[in-house]
Amino acid sequence: MSAATIVQLTDTHIRPAGERVHGMVDTYANLTHVLQQLRASRQRIDALVLSGDLTDTGSPEAYRRLRSAVEPVAEELGAKTVYVMGNHDERAAFATELLGMDSAAVDPDAPLDQVVDVAGLRVIALDSTTPRRHDGRLEERQLDWLADQLRERARHGTLLVLHHPPIPSPIAATEYLRLARPELLAEVLADSDVRLIICGHNHLTAAAALAGIPVWIGPALAYRIDPIAPVGRHRGLIGFGYSRIDLLGSTLVATAIEATPAETLYERPEQDVLDQLAALATEAG
Ligand SMILES: [Fe+2]
Ligand SMILES: [Fe+2]
Repeated sequence: MSAATIVQLTDTHIRPAGERVHGMVDTYANLTHVLQQLRASRQRIDALVLSGDLTDTGSPEAYRRLRSAVEPVAEELGAKTVYVMGNHDERAAFATELLGMDSAAVDPDAPLDQVVDVAGLRVIALDSTTPRRHDGRLEERQLDWLADQLRERARHGTLLVLHHPPIPSPIAATEYLRLARPELLAEVLADSDVRLIICGHNHLTAAAALAGIPVWIGPALAYRIDPIAPVGRHRGLIGFGYSRIDLLGSTLVATAIEATPAETLYERPEQDVLDQLAALATEAG
């Protein structure tokens, strides 16, 4: 039984009503499909973490659409919401529309970092963006702030969230837009209580490690990048997904969830499956 369950929705790329991403993808429909899936599952979900590129062009209307879709479902689930900046986001609109900040109080040059407690698990979200740039960077003041936060350990450890993955990529364009100087982050994280780092940005599902800490790149909600396109080609694919992050014992487990509509192959009561497995185990001695 999971002590905490977080759903990671990344790269939602919401646009104003009537607009589609790359002229084809209705990202709002993808989002509402997933939110409906979460409601229908009736699973305990403690938080929804949206890890960047929440809108496609940073328009206030797109943030309002996103928020009006997400918040009623989060409320129904009893889940906290954590909004994290991505390179397609725009700090002023993000801060006012999603974080409820007064526009006069928003400094567009100040990163929007956050700490949220989720059932004893500390979620630290770093803003890895720089205005008008698509690659990632953490400023010295952010690393200092992070080091300061990590001085104290949390009851169930820490989940670190940042949009740009601090690991290399085999996809040329993704590698070009990587997080600069991940070794600086690695230094801060060494010997900390961070148990998992979750990211988005790459629009594909991948895993690696930084300073011995697992790094999870969750599947995007908008569309996919083909990880095995023909040599010399960069290809986007229709299809979407998200992730669940579960605290099982002292381990954080990341699981990708396919959301592209697919036919059910079979569906049975969970207890029947467990009984069958137990019978097989007994038979095997
Ligand atoms: Fe994205
Ligand atoms: Fe991105």
